[in-house]
Amino acid sequence: MRRLVVVSNRVALPDEGAARAGGLAVALQEALQQNGGLWFGWSGRITPQSSDSPHIRQFGQVTFATLDLSRKDHAEYYNGYANRSLWPVFHYRIDLADFTRENYQGYLRVNTLFAEKLRPLLRDEDEIWVHDYHLIPLGEELRRLGIRQRLGFFLHTPFPAMEVLVVLPSASRIVRSLAAYDVVGFQTAADLRAFHDHVTLESAGEVLSNGLVRGFGRTLKADVFPIGIDVGPMVAAAESAHRLASTRRLRRNFSECKLMIGVDRLDYSKGLPERFKSFERFLEKYPAWRGKVSLMQIAPSSRADVPEYMQIRRQLEAEAGHINGRFAEFDWTPLHYLNSSYQRQTLAGFYRFSQIGVVSPLRDGMNLVAKEYVAAQNGEDPGVLVLSRFAGAARELTSALQINPYDLEGVADALARALDMPIEERRDRWQDLMSAVRTGSLDHWRDSFLKALTEAPYTVET
Ligand code: F6P
Repeated sequence: MRRLVVVSNRVALPDEGAARAGGLAVALQEALQQNGGLWFGWSGRITPQSSDSPHIRQFGQVTFATLDLSRKDHAEYYNGYANRSLWPVFHYRIDLADFTRENYQGYLRVNTLFAEKLRPLLRDEDEIWVHDYHLIPLGEELRRLGIRQRLGFFLHTPFPAMEVLVVLPSASRIVRSLAAYDVVGFQTAADLRAFHDHVTLESAGEVLSNGLVRGFGRTLKADVFPIGIDVGPMVAAAESAHRLASTRRLRRNFSECKLMIGVDRLDYSKGLPERFKSFERFLEKYPAWRGKVSLMQIAPSSRADVPEYMQIRRQLEAEAGHINGRFAEFDWTPLHYLNSSYQRQTLAGFYRFSQIGVVSPLRDGMNLVAKEYVAAQNGEDPGVLVLSRFAGAARELTSALQINPYDLEGVADALARALDMPIEERRDRWQDLMSAVRTGSLDHWRDSFLKALTEAPYTVET
């Protein structure tokens, strides 16, 4: 019977607390439990030397195998190439990208290390599912070590247009590495199109009529698998959230005032400075709302050792101070900016209580906060989702109020429109959104990807 092997940079160990484990971890655990499984990745620890052999732990049917990384490996692979080269380029921020040969070599070295340490743990009947931009070359490394098992890769971030990707000095190698997999999954049709462009225009490959891709001497399936959320638990958490002390305190504090909420990792791709500026423009242009609505922005800090992240953190602190200094009253704070993270249960209550969900990334692979906000609403009196057209989620959530986050005036107008939206329109939009969230659930994403992987290898009919 086939066994699933999941490989990702971060590994969610069950004893690290169910509340902290995201929906992705839950969905993958379910698939791993079915026929027994292995989850392999970084331990989250930085040690004097990278591990010689993985730390193995067993939870029920699932084996967790994790590697520690040395300071140099972590700096070059994770902070360096993954988060200062690939991440900005994949999010269209070539102005923030930094390319050094050291970081690139470190990225390849850690991918080789992962492949070498994973290989002895693999069995013939395994299906291997690799996740995200940290591990693109892993498949190629495994093939080099003689692995013939089915290999799938899912990219959680956007895949950029060819003109942007080619800025990356190693772009061709990155695309070639993807061809080592049997199935490559993207979040949206635009990402897939960009991959096709690169394969056909830059790499002399072919997109075949049945959607298969031929290139670099291999045939693979490249397709769209939009990731979703685990809908049931989010609905249940939101419905019972009124019992939580945090929800009660929030309601008490905002009893006289409407609430807009944003929840994002503190990342420049999330468009937070633009969101703050749009909110400022909204307060300028619609003074009747002053004192009657606040924006609560939750932004837990992320990748804090990377200079661009230190910079955005400073910028947001200054912007938030500026807006509150300009508009606050002794009994009203326009912008609540929180650098903390909250448990899902708490967030479910915050989403449900907020009249507006603001999700305005400049670029995002999917954005699950948008889907969580929808799932947490009360269908009788739902809030309004204001959603960037540059989030992958915008392709499915077409009944959200879609905005261009660069158009500060347009966003300010959308916030005002959302606050004034009649109940019938809110209900109609929410019903459409909720049906899209249910259709594209996390289970559906996982099952459709694994079905495509099980159908591999793909051969070209002649
Ligand atoms: O969006 C890509 C992604 O890998 C997500 O899957 C994940 O939530 C996020 O980035 C986490 O980033 P990090 O592991 O750097 O904290």
